[in-house]
Amino acid sequence: MKKDICQSKSAKETMACAAKLGEQLKGGELIALWGDLGSGKTTFIKGLAKSLGVKDAIRSPSFLLFKPYKNFVHADLYRLEKMINLDELGLGEYMEDKNTIVAIEWPEKIKKYLPRKRTDIYFKTIGENEREIKIVRN
Ligand SMILES: Nc1ncnc2c1ncn2[C@@H]1O[C@H](COP(=O)(O)OP(=O)(O)O)[C@@H](O)[C@H]1O
Ligand SMILES: [Mg+2]
Repeated sequence: MKKDICQSKSAKETMACAAKLGEQLKGGELIALWGDLGSGKTTFIKGLAKSLGVKDAIRSPSFLLFKPYKNFVHADLYRLEKMINLDELGLGEYMEDKNTIVAIEWPEKIKKYLPRKRTDIYFKTIGENEREIKIVRN
């Protein structure tokens, strides 16, 4: 297990923190982003996607639970009403692809199906523009 902490004072710093993680990813990783609404999960994912070379603008997939990009999938399970597994969600095939990175907001919605081998990122709101971001690689 390896831990990293970013103390971020702006959305831009959060994106830079994400880019540092992005540089270390090889593909095939699952990233679970834990934290309250507004704590910076989507902002982090924007920075991550950018560092992975995703050209499209990342927006929260409001009607879909996830949106696949070139080598990256952004899932936001906020609206998921009952716990279903990754295959039922349609994320299974992406998770098996060694070139694709899957990032999940609100991973607690599928907590019991999360693989043990994953990267957890914990977001804490400290102040209006201040966030603590803890990255734990398992
Ligand atoms: N240090 C920071 N890191 C990330 N976002 C920040 C920060 N400071 C302020 N913000 C603002 O907080 C909001 C975070 O929203 P978002 O990334 O959508 O959070 P979440 O996906 O966790 O609900 C954005 O409006 C962003 O501009
Ligand atoms: Mg979000």
